[in-house]
Amino acid sequence: MSAGASCLTINRMNALRLRWIPLSLVLLSLVPVGGGAFRVTQLASGAEVTEANARFFAAPVPVVLHIFGASLFLVLGAFQFDGVLRRKRPGWHRAAGRLIVPCGLTAALSGVWMALFYDLPAEDEGILTVVRVFFGSAMAAALILGFAAIRRRDYARHRAWMIRGYAIGLGAGTQAFTLTSVLLWQNPPDSLGRVVGHTAGWLINLAVAEWIIRFKPPAMLPDTAVAGQAVPA
Ligand code: HEM
Repeated sequence: MSAGASCLTINRMNALRLRWIPLSLVLLSLVPVGGGAFRVTQLASGAEVTEANARFFAAPVPVVLHIFGASLFLVLGAFQFDGVLRRKRPGWHRAAGRLIVPCGLTAALSGVWMALFYDLPAEDEGILTVVRVFFGSAMAAALILGFAAIRRRDYARHRAWMIRGYAIGLGAGTQAFTLTSVLLWQNPPDSLGRVVGHTAGWLINLAVAEWIIRFKPPAMLPDTAVAGQAVPA
């Protein structure tokens, strides 16, 4: 094979590898996005009010804002990690980012509001409220710090904070697995089980995020940086 042809093959393999990242992120988002679609449909169609869903009918605005904000944040946000798209459509990352940050802030802050003010089941009160307020605030802070960093053209910090903010948001996807695993230990889970299931999802994602930030610096990524342009998260 000629040098040119092998170079083309390597570039195609890199493009495929880079495309796997956003696709995996969208896949992991499907469970919470699907759960959100179910809840919005239930609210819009005036389904029967039960003990399990009464809080959503009593105050639908926070949960609807939460679901739309979070779904757009996760699905559109996944493509911020698409190196191929970033290289082919350089304006996309910037334009999408301006929509994704407010969506992420809406998701995080409405989540905190619901944790504090919804009439939650007894096992979701107490420590889980503290955990949710902590991670919801951390997600909002990470997105604000990431946005502030790009205004200063500090690409490395922008990348790091946006990866952290997205990782916390995507905790909802990982929690589908951690909360299911808790069922092997407790069925139904008590307060401790609920805290362990939620916290594990967020911590796993943050550990992966820190690994990417430290060991996959943008300078080592094959699609790095079109000159004069932000190196996105
Ligand atoms: C951005 C990713 C997120 C997604 C996709 C997501 C998804 C959802 C969905 C679909 C619901 C409705 C659950 C139902 O209908 O039973 C929900 C509720 C909730 N979320 Fe999130 N969420 C995300 C982030 C967060 C964060 C960061 C927090 C932390 C504060 C949070 C806290 C809550 C709370 C407190 C509820 C209400 C739970 C209940 O009343 O049972 N969410 N979330």
